[in-house]
Amino acid sequence: APKTVIAPSILAADFAELGPACAKTMKQGADWLHVDIMDGHFVPNITFGPAVVAKIRKHVDQPAESFARGTFDCHMMIAEPKKWVKDMKSAGCDLYCFHYEAAFSSAAESPEEKTEEKTNPKALLRYIHDQGMLAGIAIKPDTPVDVLWDILESSDEKERPDMVLVMTVHPGFGGQKFMASELPKVQALRAKYPELNIEVDGGLGVGTIDQAADAGANVIVAGSAVFGAKDPSEVISVLRKAVDD
Ligand code: DX5
Ligand code: ZN
Repeated sequence: APKTVIAPSILAADFAELGPACAKTMKQGADWLHVDIMDGHFVPNITFGPAVVAKIRKHVDQPAESFARGTFDCHMMIAEPKKWVKDMKSAGCDLYCFHYEAAFSSAAESPEEKTEEKTNPKALLRYIHDQGMLAGIAIKPDTPVDVLWDILESSDEKERPDMVLVMTVHPGFGGQKFMASELPKVQALRAKYPELNIEVDGGLGVGTIDQAADAGANVIVAGSAVFGAKDPSEVISVLRKAVDD
């Protein structure tokens, strides 16, 4: 099975102290940082963009290897995912995870790309890989898992995702209730792909981790459960143990 990854979502951190908060959660046992980028179009909320990512990157050593500790797992809840790939790479993003639902409407950003009227998930995965990042694809609760099979079966490895993110809340806000209704998607993915990195995001904490782990998730995002805890190290270790066992 792929390795367990605990990725605290810094959406729940104090934005006025973001750099030190990132360093602190790494010290408390986090593997990756989950960085939520929201544009006010794809989701009804706005967070921050590449300029802020570049600043907080300096507070956490960038990993030399793929998937290593310190990976910036950037969850792009944005309407035009293709447009921000290069800027996020420059900012220090390691894993660029876009939403399937947004991947068909990206506008061309340069004259040479205008020939490609529309982007599609496979082309976007290739583009992200060509920029030297890992690529992830996320699905919202209303999107069936079946849209992913063709992508996961692509014969070209550049067009296959390094990770799939199954949202367990409607994206946009931290602190929402975990949707167990999404777990059959995780089970279906795990049954077909024993080695796939499967991330769950939304409402994860000590009370919901067992269900997600049993379904087969190995990359666990937790915002309020970690940053709101009296003892974040303890919560991180409980989450890790639930997935490892
Ligand atoms: C929601 C974000 C999540 C969020 C999770 O749109 O994608 O990453 O921070 O927060 P919690 O863990 O509090 O549900
Ligand atoms: Zn997220």
